[in-house]
Amino acid sequence: MDSTRQVEPSAGAVKVAVGERYAQSALAVEPALCCPVQYDGRFLAALPEEILQKDYGCGDPSRWLREGDSVLDLGSGAGKICFIASQVVGAKGSVIGVDMTPEMLALARKYRGEVAQKVGWSNVEFRRGRIEDLRLDLDRFDAWRAAHPAADAEREADRMRAEEPMIADDAMDAVVSNCVLNLVAPALKPQLFTEVFRVLKRGGRAVISDIVADREVPLELQHDPELWSGCISGALEERAFLRAFEAAGFHGVQIVARQAEPWQVVEGIEFRSLTVAAYKGKQGPCLDEGHSVIYRGPFAHASDDDGHLFERGVRTPVCAKTFALLGREPYQGQFERLEKDGVSARDEAAMCGPSSEPACC
Ligand SMILES: C[S@@+](CC[C@H](N)C(=O)[O-])C[C@H]1O[C@@H](n2cnc3c(N)ncnc32)[C@H](O)[C@@H]1O
Repeated sequence: MDSTRQVEPSAGAVKVAVGERYAQSALAVEPALCCPVQYDGRFLAALPEEILQKDYGCGDPSRWLREGDSVLDLGSGAGKICFIASQVVGAKGSVIGVDMTPEMLALARKYRGEVAQKVGWSNVEFRRGRIEDLRLDLDRFDAWRAAHPAADAEREADRMRAEEPMIADDAMDAVVSNCVLNLVAPALKPQLFTEVFRVLKRGGRAVISDIVADREVPLELQHDPELWSGCISGALEERAFLRAFEAAGFHGVQIVARQAEPWQVVEGIEFRSLTVAAYKGKQGPCLDEGHSVIYRGPFAHASDDDGHLFERGVRTPVCAKTFALLGREPYQGQFERLEKDGVSARDEAAMCGPSSEPACC
């Protein structure tokens, strides 16, 4: 057996397979890449037919956006989710689509003005970059390389990442993506989730639609470039997909949509679309300011991403940070929140940890 097939496919091999496939599918509709999605019809009227045709998504993360949001769409393709998001967030919001394929970007940019005219405002822009490296703007980097053919390009790339990042830290209210994360090489996936976390504001959320598998995809399938670029081979196993958000530091990770019937079954493995929402903001010191919460139920108990256990109906001391988190999405309404619990000597160890330590979260 070919020894390269006993390890995961390299980032280079994935980049070539995905780059070639999506360059072609920007030019001609590729039905094999379409997974039927019901978008909100109110937002489709402003979209040109070509954008609707070249829809290679598998879910609709735009349903979880709000007026005024600043939004980043990862792997924006022909721009459909960006143009829908533009209408949801309104004139006070803004949308950035990032894609690595020049042909896809050309298509999205071609219709930017027309959609803005129909919608009534212009709040969408498209940038070329890799979603696992959101600091580097590839259009600017390539322009620099063309002007400085003999210079150290890697050094300049690092300078750009540090001094002029394409997407800054803590910049976005929401990061969305539709059927793209699976296309990133296995070795780069942890870095990709870290990037999503980095660019979100504290309190921001990621809403990601992607294809997942009901079992780990075997290496043999991972080495098929057609299946890889077809959103099959790079799909994470469902639980591993959720864990990737947890590992990057997200909390409140939640499946908000899950396709009941598989989109495809390959060698007995079911591939289906999942939409996951996850939140940034549990990091930071844990200070006891006398707050408590009571979990309302319906489950006998619940535990959060910091390992706190909340028994139904039981007053539970929490630090100020956890108290604030539990009052917000996605926990809102599930806890009775008590500003001061009236207990004079609190058992700090039973809460989040010693208040002097910024340790718990
Ligand atoms: C399946 S299509 C989805 C396009 C779009 N989100 C939609 O809903 O129609 C995948 C898109 O992701 C882009 N893409 C794949 N891997 C990427 C990466 N590592 N960085 C940036 N874009 C990527 C491709 O160029 C392509 O436009």
